[in-house]
Amino acid sequence: MQLDLFSDINTEQTEQDQIRSLRRELEEHNYKYYVLSEPSITDREFDEKMHLLQDLEARHPEMADPSSPTQHVGSDLGLKSGFRQLSHRYPMLSLANTYSEQEIRDWYNRITKEIPPTECEIVCELKYDGLSIALWYEDGVLTHALTRGDGTRGDDVLMNVKTIKTIPWNVGTGTFEIRGEILLPWASFERLNREREEQEEPLFANPRNAASGTLKLQDPRVVAMRGLDAYLYYYLGETLPADTHYGCLQAARKMGFQVSDAIQVCHTIDEIMQFISYWDTERRNLPVATDGIVLKVNSLRQQRQLGYTAKTPRWAIAYKFQAEKQLTLLKSISYQVGRTGVVTPVANLEPVHLSGTTVQRATLHNEDFIRQLDIAPGDMVWVEKGGEIIPKITGKEQTADHHSAAPFRFMTLCPECGTPLVRDPEQAAWRCPNEMECPPQLKGKIEHFVARKAMNIDGLGEETIDIFYHRGLIRNIADLYDLKVEDIMQLDGFQQKASQNIVSGIERSKQVPWNRVLFALGIRYVGETTAKKLAKTFTSFDTLRNASVEELKAVEDVGEQIAISIRQYCENPYNQLIVQRLQQAGVQLQVAEGELNEQKSTILEGKTIVISGVFQHHSRDEYKDMIEQHGGKNTGSVSKTTSFILAGDNMGPAKLEKAQKLGVQIMSEDEFLNMIQDEH
Ligand code: IVH
Repeated sequence: MQLDLFSDINTEQTEQDQIRSLRRELEEHNYKYYVLSEPSITDREFDEKMHLLQDLEARHPEMADPSSPTQHVGSDLGLKSGFRQLSHRYPMLSLANTYSEQEIRDWYNRITKEIPPTECEIVCELKYDGLSIALWYEDGVLTHALTRGDGTRGDDVLMNVKTIKTIPWNVGTGTFEIRGEILLPWASFERLNREREEQEEPLFANPRNAASGTLKLQDPRVVAMRGLDAYLYYYLGETLPADTHYGCLQAARKMGFQVSDAIQVCHTIDEIMQFISYWDTERRNLPVATDGIVLKVNSLRQQRQLGYTAKTPRWAIAYKFQAEKQLTLLKSISYQVGRTGVVTPVANLEPVHLSGTTVQRATLHNEDFIRQLDIAPGDMVWVEKGGEIIPKITGKEQTADHHSAAPFRFMTLCPECGTPLVRDPEQAAWRCPNEMECPPQLKGKIEHFVARKAMNIDGLGEETIDIFYHRGLIRNIADLYDLKVEDIMQLDGFQQKASQNIVSGIERSKQVPWNRVLFALGIRYVGETTAKKLAKTFTSFDTLRNASVEELKAVEDVGEQIAISIRQYCENPYNQLIVQRLQQAGVQLQVAEGELNEQKSTILEGKTIVISGVFQHHSRDEYKDMIEQHGGKNTGSVSKTTSFILAGDNMGPAKLEKAQKLGVQIMSEDEFLNMIQDEH
């Protein structure tokens, strides 16, 4: 009898343990399957485990948990729910920091008053410029990854952190916390910005912003593609693998964590200073961004002895590298007219060497910026290359002959066409109002017209438009449709093939639907989305032209400002002429027949299609529309449910590899177009 009772308890315990471990296991498999698209077990094995867990949970209602894998669909895990906030087990303090070597010496002197210098070891490390992260391991398993948050509570971004290849999910044993920095390496950062440029998305200013933006993304699949990395530098827990900081880090490395090699145990202040000056230049050769050196007392016992102030440990300090900065002469200020007529002041500098490049120009943003810095040509100014890509002027040096600099006055006439400038009250900017004749504005309109999201005319970049404009081939968007292959071939450097491609691209743009043509016209304030909405109500340019401000405002998202801008555009005789010429050329200034009836065929029904690479004939957005119009679904990442990949040039190597591994078909642009063509 007694024996039975015991065996009952035992089974109960094992079953509860089994529930816990099955839940954890299934979460991992869900993640591998849905997020990484790299399942490590068969569907059948997965289902068997899931059923086993369901049975066990049914037997143990006291263990019901809404977050169990039996209670939610794998793909939704952590994707849409935002992040859960958790309290830090150990508060996440910051470090005292300084830019002064003297203050480092002062700190060392303070420390060695409490600890005999002969017993004082200081660990010098790089200060990584990313985002701090606290990783929690329970019985060897990575269970949470908390951002700094407010230092007391942080966001649990575990799903995103798990996409980082250098962070182990399981280290065997141990319950502890390890902290470090999440970074986007320079190479990934540059690749990401190139891609964003191609997709016409705003660029990230520096790798830290990019890493932070990435870590906050709600879709770990996108995070996985960005290529984050991490360096660990702080081991915490009830039991530690060593009694020194250095020892803990070496143990962490043995456990599989990425710990930097650039660590040195220093015994004297001179050694510390040497480390600092070595890395101040050598850091430029590192694959990731760093912004200083962190000094930590090595012995954990001594760390406890020194203790903490309210915000920072006394046993550590950061020396921050100077943002590279140079003093140079502001020779003159010139003015650039943008495509919207905004005039931007630019500083022309006596060339200086800064972070590996020669700088001779820097943006001055606008009139207010110049007034705040109180600078004028003739001043000696400080140029800095901080976290941003573009160098900036941060101040001036008061010189004895300061009065030699003439007082600054902003340009009053457009440097391109001589028209008096007007100050735009909303943007603190000066603008040239001569949009009909001012060359950069005219070229800007053409650039906007041919852009991918507008008419998507290939082969006509900024440079080509500039050449065509200066040779008098084009002055406005309607002129494009009069271009002949022979005209282009007369220009230097344009062969038959390239010229032919440009003309065919222009010819193809006559198929671009009305809503995008409306966007391409470049009416002020009419963006892509507004154009789409307007085109639904006003199905041709004629109906739009005849609409009153009130009628225009009846369209969702169209306010007074947009409505008035449209009226002004339509009433302008020059614009009327341009539109008339476009119409005669065959551009879609009305909804095409059958366009309203969006569904064109069902040939792609039930198919999940991934779009990847750069395309020749249509934009990505156009392909997305086409997929939908033919009944298919477009998704972001390759998995085993992908029917095929519509691949352009330069498809990402990771996608290609995954596709090959999963045996997913890759279809070229032409094959795809032929396939849906047959269905018309
Ligand atoms: S140790 C209590 N070591 O710098 C000491 N921090 O300004 C905890 N950081 O929040 C930090 N590299 O995000 C430490 N080698 C390093 C570091 C480092 C970068 C960051 C970290 C911290 C911030 C302090």
